Amino acid sequence: MSTADNSILGLRLPTDPRWVDLASLSLQEILTDHAFCELKAATQCISLVQIYPDKMELVSALSPIVTEEWGHFRMVLAEIKKRGYELGRQRKDDYVNLLLQHHPKAVPVPDKLLHKLMICALIEARSCERFRLLSENLEEEDMRTFYHRFMVAEAGHYRLFVDLAEQYYPVEQVRAAWQQWLDIEAQVLNILSPRGDRMH
Ligand SMILES: [Fe+2]
Ligand SMILES: [Fe+2]
Repeated sequence: MSTADNSILGLRLPTDPRWVDLASLSLQEILTDHAFCELKAATQCISLVQIYPDKMELVSALSPIVTEEWGHFRMVLAEIKKRGYELGRQRKDDYVNLLLQHHPKAVPVPDKLLHKLMICALIEARSCERFRLLSENLEEEDMRTFYHRFMVAEAGHYRLFVDLAEQYYPVEQVRAAWQQWLDIEAQVLNILSPRGDRMH
């Protein structure tokens, strides 16, 4: 079984099968959006370190992830250059914006970190699932290998965010928050129609 199976990741809904067909027809667009996803993943980790400098396990765990996500950005950038494409501009991130709009209201301050970690884990899990689809369905073998590497890396990050949450919160509370975010993500996916120029 692949590390990106929804049963492992726990995602409620599989990606609409039309997405990978659309994506494969607009690889340049996907590479641009993917590059910015990696950049946002790096900046999100930096931002968590800035907000929680007193949480040493978190700082220690996320510092190398910043380097790794930045390395992912550079890998995508190298692919873009190799193909003679432009990086292009960052697009509006409807998926993340909708997730944030559905953020439960009135979260007590001590639980804010839990929800931030759950959102990070969720984005990693969904990215991992989409990278799997690309790694299995793109026509070019090089690109299938390229996306397989991202799939494996993001599966590890998904786990890392859940593990970090369990360091700071009781397991039962983490499980409940994760279920809540899985429900929210399923609602968000139902709102969004699949687009070949977006990773999500
Ligand atoms: Fe990444
Ligand atoms: Fe990641």
